Amino acid sequence: MARPLRLGVLASGTGSNLQAILDACSARRIAAEAAVVICNIPGARALQRAAEARVPAVLLPHREHARREDYDARLVSELRSRSVDLVCLAGFMRIVTPVLLSAFPQRVLNIHPSLLPGFPGMHGVRQALRAGVRVSGCTVHFVDEGTDSGPILIQAAVPVLEGDTEEALAARILLQEHRIYPQAIQLVAEGRVAVEGQRVRISGPSGDPARAFSSPPVET
Ligand code: GRF
Repeated sequence: MARPLRLGVLASGTGSNLQAILDACSARRIAAEAAVVICNIPGARALQRAAEARVPAVLLPHREHARREDYDARLVSELRSRSVDLVCLAGFMRIVTPVLLSAFPQRVLNIHPSLLPGFPGMHGVRQALRAGVRVSGCTVHFVDEGTDSGPILIQAAVPVLEGDTEEALAARILLQEHRIYPQAIQLVAEGRVAVEGQRVRISGPSGDPARAFSSPPVET
């Protein structure tokens, strides 16, 4: 069997997606292992989660770097030193530069709390509510140089309920994030993902196109 995919998870805050990934790795639900967790915010819960899971955790405060590119060069050297195959942004509140992207071409994933390309940026849930959409959700996508604009790998839909607040909708979306991020990583681990321009082709487990993976059904 191929060796597990080595993940570098980048987080800034609570780290609940990080936790979902760590849990999926340790339960062997995905053929991956967390090689390192990198966090830019001192004291973030994500660092504690990494320590609890006995995964190497690195605090790399961005304030110590004048330019984004310098910061990303530090990220790249950390990730390379741990032989990371796939970089997973999990609530990492930084815009990444070509320095990181060119070191890991089509090997950087992000999760975003909206059905992209709708509502990119910082407040995806709030924007979706304000726009009055009836269905929102979350997206795992490859990262490119834009904001939440890279090729889409998996999405899950979450209905907007009458009287929803931003917090309530965000919490229901987060549950789906925890489900689809490990799924997305597993697809990459199985070598079933090919990026073709803006589109991602996902082949079936045996490479059989007739059994090609389809996105999870709409949750109600
Ligand atoms: C999630 O909503 C994710 O989609 C967004 O930031 C949030 C991170 O949450 N990019 P957590 O730190 O994983 O709990």
